[in-house]
Amino acid sequence: MELVVMVGLQGAGKSTWVREQIADTHVVVSKDHWPNARRREARQRRTVDALLSTGHDVVVDNTNPALEDRAPLIAAARANGASVRAVYLPTPLELCLARNESRMGRARVPLVGVLATDRRLVPPSRGEGFDDVEVVRA
Ligand SMILES: Nc1ncnc2c1ncn2[C@@H]1O[C@H](COP(=O)(O)OP(=O)(O)OP(=O)(O)O)[C@@H](O)[C@H]1O
Ligand SMILES: [Mg+2]
Repeated sequence: MELVVMVGLQGAGKSTWVREQIADTHVVVSKDHWPNARRREARQRRTVDALLSTGHDVVVDNTNPALEDRAPLIAAARANGASVRAVYLPTPLELCLARNESRMGRARVPLVGVLATDRRLVPPSRGEGFDDVEVVRA
């Protein structure tokens, strides 16, 4: 059993990678699935915990830019005896912004949101508790 934590800016290609690589084997959890819910963070943690505790492989498809975003997920994996792997898409900011511009409707996120995530982003490492870090270049 494993937990996969996606890391990358808006437009980096996370959801595309998930769809192509692991959506058949892992349950996809994303705060984007509940755009209007309150306390989405807590809801996501409860969902991940419930899935891992019932033996599912799970992928969390969010930007997860900072250690504080990832630490509770790593802890949930540990608590459930699952391994935990980061998949990091270091897609350049300029490319993410260009892709974001060409997205339609709600899929397009505000520029300031991408810039804020870029400022917070710290590449994932084994040091913070991941068993493995996979880097996927654009
Ligand atoms: N490897 C790729 N090459 C070219 N274009 C790509 C690639 N991966 C994704 N894209 C395009 O980039 C855009 C953003 O991709 P995607 O939705 O997967 O990003 P995301 O990281 O999930 O973003 P968000 O955090 O906002 O959900 C889409 O229009 C997608 O078609
Ligand atoms: Mg996405």
